[in-house]
Amino acid sequence: MKYKTLDILTCPFCREHVEFLGPKAEDIQSGTLQCNNCSRTYSVIQGIPRFVKPEALTGLNRRFARMYDWFSWIYVPFSKAAFALLGMSEEQGRREILDRLDPQGGRVLEVSIGPGVNLPYLVRRADMGDIYGLDISLGQLHRCQRVTQRKGWDVDLFLGNGEQLPFQGGSFESVFHIGGINFFNDKRAAIEEMIRVAKSGSRILIADETEQGARGYERFLPGFKKLFKGHREAITTPVDLVPAEMLDTRVFEVWKGMMYCLEFRKP
Ligand SMILES: C[S@@+](CC[C@H](N)C(=O)[O-])C[C@H]1O[C@@H](n2cnc3c(N)ncnc32)[C@H](O)[C@@H]1O
Ligand SMILES: [Zn+2]
Repeated sequence: MKYKTLDILTCPFCREHVEFLGPKAEDIQSGTLQCNNCSRTYSVIQGIPRFVKPEALTGLNRRFARMYDWFSWIYVPFSKAAFALLGMSEEQGRREILDRLDPQGGRVLEVSIGPGVNLPYLVRRADMGDIYGLDISLGQLHRCQRVTQRKGWDVDLFLGNGEQLPFQGGSFESVFHIGGINFFNDKRAAIEEMIRVAKSGSRILIADETEQGARGYERFLPGFKKLFKGHREAITTPVDLVPAEMLDTRVFEVWKGMMYCLEFRKP
């Protein structure tokens, strides 16, 4: 994590600034962050600040964090194969969503970055500023870090919950999420958080599988069906959770109807 990232980091519980307890270094690899208000501490290990404790997670967040910890091993080839089954390249599919981002050279946050499968379509764009990625699965983040280090991509990563982001309000020119929100414990909180950390005028994109897409997962993704213990609710696009004051709200289907994409702009 870059030292300058401390400017936008906050405690996910009380939203006050955190400070680094240790010597100043341009690149923080390990140490402790402490909240100026509630004194909670968060460790930084291998450059990744940890804002959640896996053992403290509950409900679907806990089940999915564990599932993605092991699934991270095959996520990248699985994703490529899923696009091939759909009859499109991964680049085509991902660009259907990512080309809608409009960061205008500012900071970009991916909530639920996984192993970084969207990064190849972001890092070389002239309109991208610094890129930040958060995920609830340490397994996914470690995969992602291996890729960014190998490729020399400068991306700050955080272990955290999308429902309680560790960032100051108005920090990002662009915020997006692909592929997890349907099964977060609290979708409303996650959408509110993406809006809170976005700057006024930012475009926010939220995409996840449609009911048709989820049925595909149930057939092809080992262990997926079991996560719901036989009681999965049918998926609807969470457009009703987007506050009425957001601008240009629209929903469209991508990936041949397997995913919805919800787009709006913060006033
Ligand atoms: C299907 S993957 C999507 C990865 C990547 N964004 C992509 O486009 O392929 C879903 C991701 O959501 C993450 N996730 C699940 N629940 C979360 C939560 N409450 N907060 C943040 N991330 C979460 C998982 O760990 C996983 O990496
Ligand atoms: Zn605090």
